[in-house]
Amino acid sequence: MVFEQIRTGGDRNFGYLIADPETKEAAVVDPSGAPDLFLLRIQRLGLKLRWILCSHSHWDHTGGINELKQGTDALLAMHGSAPMPLDRPLEDSDTLNLGKLALQIIHTPGHCDDAICILINGNLMTGDTLYVGKIGGTASDSDARKQYDSLHRKLMTLPEETKVYPGHDVGVRPSSTIGEEKRNNPFILQPDIQHFLHLKANWADYKKQHGIS
Ligand SMILES: [Fe+2]
Repeated sequence: MVFEQIRTGGDRNFGYLIADPETKEAAVVDPSGAPDLFLLRIQRLGLKLRWILCSHSHWDHTGGINELKQGTDALLAMHGSAPMPLDRPLEDSDTLNLGKLALQIIHTPGHCDDAICILINGNLMTGDTLYVGKIGGTASDSDARKQYDSLHRKLMTLPEETKVYPGHDVGVRPSSTIGEEKRNNPFILQPDIQHFLHLKANWADYKKQHGIS
């Protein structure tokens, strides 16, 4: 399987290129500010772009969609609640075929309602739901509760060896695993929703106290 983590600029954004080496079918996740970079890799590797996916509808993940669509037959797939025209509206547990591979969609509302994580062969692209040692921001207590539920019910129930590939490079490493996040991520380590909300409200102080940049 082709699986490349690509730095796309913005706020240390990551996008991902995935392909089945046999059929050459490819998918791009979060093209963001670097559609040219993805097109170059697709050309170099002789791939056919089939899917463009975005982990959620924030501009720093969705930029570049039009450039990627031009001159390809690629279809845009995002969660059905995303506020944009979609070729393939997605919902929780959907599967997208990519040659002999399958992209599994996990709906993880919280950071925003249309947030999804995408799992392929034990590699989980987490967008702004989960970062290495951190999590994405939320706009309200109600969204934070949704995020808590998404993290614990949908992501932390995956096998510990599942690799975590975030939407931003804001941790100590560019990727980790579900097991490492369970052991090290202060938000995941909170024993209940009240402690989780408290940490969110006091994150700036916590970072200072613990020397987290
Ligand atoms: Fe975001």
